[in-house]
Amino acid sequence: MSKVRAAVFASGTGSNFEAIMSDGDLPCEISLLVCDKPKAAVIEKAKAFGVETFVFDAKQYKQKADYEAEIVEALQKNNVEWIFLAGYMRLAGATILEAYEGKMINIHPSLLPAFPGIDAIGQAFNAGGAETGVTVHYIDEGMDTGPIIEQETVPILSNDTKETLQKRIQIVEHRLYPKVIRQILRDV
Ligand code: GAR
Repeated sequence: MSKVRAAVFASGTGSNFEAIMSDGDLPCEISLLVCDKPKAAVIEKAKAFGVETFVFDAKQYKQKADYEAEIVEALQKNNVEWIFLAGYMRLAGATILEAYEGKMINIHPSLLPAFPGIDAIGQAFNAGGAETGVTVHYIDEGMDTGPIIEQETVPILSNDTKETLQKRIQIVEHRLYPKVIRQILRDV
C-alpha cells in the first residue's frame, strides 16, 4: 500500500522540516514543501531531501485567496492529504482551510493559549515565568488557535538566556512533532 502523502509549510530555517524528514518511522511521504519566503534556508533543505517545492511571494498577488488557490492546486497535483505547518508565519485562509479541513496541524513554541503569534519564546522569556513549552494543535482560522493535540512543558531556568531556552525548546519540538504525526496518521 502506498504511503499517505503530506506537505510541510515553512517560512524559515526548516529545523522542524528536517526533523520530520529525518524520522525513520514516518507513516507518510513528504511530497511537497510550501514556502512563502523565496530566500528561506528551508528551500535548500527540501532540495537536499529531494522534496519538490512550491515557493511564492505573497507581494506578487492581489489577495490571499489568489496565492492559496495556487497552493491548493500544487497540493492536489501532488495528491497531498495532510499539511504540517512548521514555522509557516502566515494565517491559513478560507481557500486552504476548506480544502484541508481537519487535516492541518501546526507546531508552536509555547504552551498555548499562552504566547501565540511571533516570537513566542521571547514573549515567554520576558514574562519571567517558571516554564513554557511546545504545543502541537489542529489549525483553524485563528492565530495559533485550534484544538490542542499535545503539549510538553519546558522549564525556564534562572540562568537561561533567550538563546539557551530556544535551544531546549527546539530539542523538544524536533522530538514531539514527528511523534505526534506518527500518532495522528496511525489513528485515522
Ligand atoms: C519553530 O520554533 C516553530 O514552532 C515556530 O517557528 C519556528 C520555526 O523554526 N512556529 C511558530 O511560531 C508558529 N506560530 P524552524 O524553521 O527551524 O523549524
